[in-house]
Amino acid sequence: MSCRTSFATVLAAAIVAVTVILPTRASASARERARLTVRYNQPVHAVSPTLYGLMTEEINHSYDGGLYAELIRDSVFFRREHRKFIKIWSVDQNAADGISIAIDNRSGPSRALPYSLKLTATRASIRDPGGIDNPGYWGVPVWPDTTYHASIYLRAAGAENPGPVTMAIVNSTSGKVLAQAVFPAAGPHWRRYSATMHTGAVATSADNFVRLTVSHPGSVLLNVALLFPPTYKHQPAGFRIDLMKKLAALHPKFLRFPGGNFLEGKTLADWYDWKLTLGPIVDRPTHPSPWGYESSDGIGLLEFLEWCQDLHMQPLLAVYDGYALDGMHIWPGPQLEPYVKDALEEIQYVTGAVTTKWGAVRARDGHPAPFPLHYVEIGNEDFFDRSGSYSGSNGRFAQFARAIRKAYPQLQIVATMPVKGDVQPNLIDEHFYKTPQQFLHDANYFNHMSRTGPKIIVGEWATLQGTPTPDFGAALADAAWMTGLERNSDLVVMASYAPLFVNVNPLASQWPTNLIGYDALHSYGSPSYYAQVMFSNYLGNQVVAAKLAGAGPLCFESVTRNAATHTLYIKIVNAAPLPQPMTLRIEGAAAVAHSGTLVTLSAKSTRATNSIRHPRRIVPRTATVHWFGADVRHTFAPYSINVLVIHLR
Ligand code: AHR
Repeated sequence: MSCRTSFATVLAAAIVAVTVILPTRASASARERARLTVRYNQPVHAVSPTLYGLMTEEINHSYDGGLYAELIRDSVFFRREHRKFIKIWSVDQNAADGISIAIDNRSGPSRALPYSLKLTATRASIRDPGGIDNPGYWGVPVWPDTTYHASIYLRAAGAENPGPVTMAIVNSTSGKVLAQAVFPAAGPHWRRYSATMHTGAVATSADNFVRLTVSHPGSVLLNVALLFPPTYKHQPAGFRIDLMKKLAALHPKFLRFPGGNFLEGKTLADWYDWKLTLGPIVDRPTHPSPWGYESSDGIGLLEFLEWCQDLHMQPLLAVYDGYALDGMHIWPGPQLEPYVKDALEEIQYVTGAVTTKWGAVRARDGHPAPFPLHYVEIGNEDFFDRSGSYSGSNGRFAQFARAIRKAYPQLQIVATMPVKGDVQPNLIDEHFYKTPQQFLHDANYFNHMSRTGPKIIVGEWATLQGTPTPDFGAALADAAWMTGLERNSDLVVMASYAPLFVNVNPLASQWPTNLIGYDALHSYGSPSYYAQVMFSNYLGNQVVAAKLAGAGPLCFESVTRNAATHTLYIKIVNAAPLPQPMTLRIEGAAAVAHSGTLVTLSAKSTRATNSIRHPRRIVPRTATVHWFGADVRHTFAPYSINVLVIHLR
């Protein structure tokens, strides 16, 4: 069953969900020895090569204040909500230098950004410079001996020029400048200035802010003040290194983007207009995320694609289909046609040769080579559109699918719900947000589902327990659910947990349970994150026939093999509070080794979790297990997620 849930509903569900997985009658008898018989030479079906991937959108400051490494909050002055900026930026209170700020409506650095901030100093001097402060995204990270890249658009305003503009990182407690860059005095026209700044022997901290100052009286206009620390693979304007490393460790096979609700927008006017996310930042007008804050769109369409390229993921591109979160839609027919054209152009931007119109734009943006694209999803969660405008035989889905199939017959088309009529999707995206009890109950959900219809993408799923990231009870239920995904991966070809990211500052998040948490300086993986790392890293390419007998209903299994490397991956999830003794018999292999590698994620309680302060309380542990004779005898720990890797000769 799919569900879209408002934040309030989700939060309520998360709170109401009972944390402890109670020892049921079956789990009380879990001390009895269970028996797992694995028929190594009986592959049941292939494991989908794209099974585990990522779903992403701008929620919980996933990009601004998250993956997008830029450090200055609301660095762009744009059309809407001017007042908000005066709130984020504050006048340096220490200076007796007559500083004032205002939004200048008459001049901006580009057509996309026709506004700017006017900084006026009446008494600033070299001894007492004055300016404005920016708190960053709940702090500004500083590391010793580190180079930052700073840039800003400046234009002189009025007769008096206040001279060079300094950007500094200042410690909030000591007031000490930890690094700074100086931009030359602004000229009469808008221009981008860039500089580097370097920290010396400073302590690592996030208790810092960014200050822009002038040292002479006068006025200057500014916009797009950016500050980047070192980024992943040294990309300019790139991604946070720690977060990319955490994603890389998941070995994700696809990236579903740009949403989620972020694709739809709150109203029809707020749709994800990909064309406005291209080119230099100064040409991106920003747009409201449905999650209550403005998106800088520093991660735009090209950056999503380069993200795929960097982590070797397939793009699962969701195109906007004329439906908004407030329930409004555009009726199929001529009014929808501009959006269909837009989707076709988007696909051309992604895949077209440089000789095509949008392929040429991509080349202009710095990426001449087309990106591989196999999957296009039409919309997001259109089952909320009760009018039937999506699912009817001539509905929105059909209109998009017909046009896309005609222009790009090789593409696999994903619908967000079942649809009527001749135009059928190749795949349907189903979403599952559930309590631990529900997921434990539903581990076999796909077992008896028809194999004759479209394949399934589980494009969003998560056990809702734990805030801001899941606790171990949630990880156990996640793992149980994933055994079902693997066993049914002939039908379920892709699955991605959601949401992926959360900035753990309480003011930053909108969703209760999220996979990876971070603040300005640090990040951590939740227990569910580590369960995902284990499931995706230890996965064969074929499901093997296996029968589990004598274990209670809180014990779950999935067995896959890689025949080429003669490796067997046996996953056992013991969600019970008691140990689970088990005898494993492997039949049909020429010779079974007498030792294997056991990777275990476990905790004493379902409440246990990782956090920004305790990031590694629950992490996978690896051990070698030995056995004699034909059977493997092992007792799986209470509350544990296990993978036993056995090499067969
Ligand atoms: O993952 C959070 C939200 O849940 C997504 O934006 C939406 O698709 C779903 O309702």
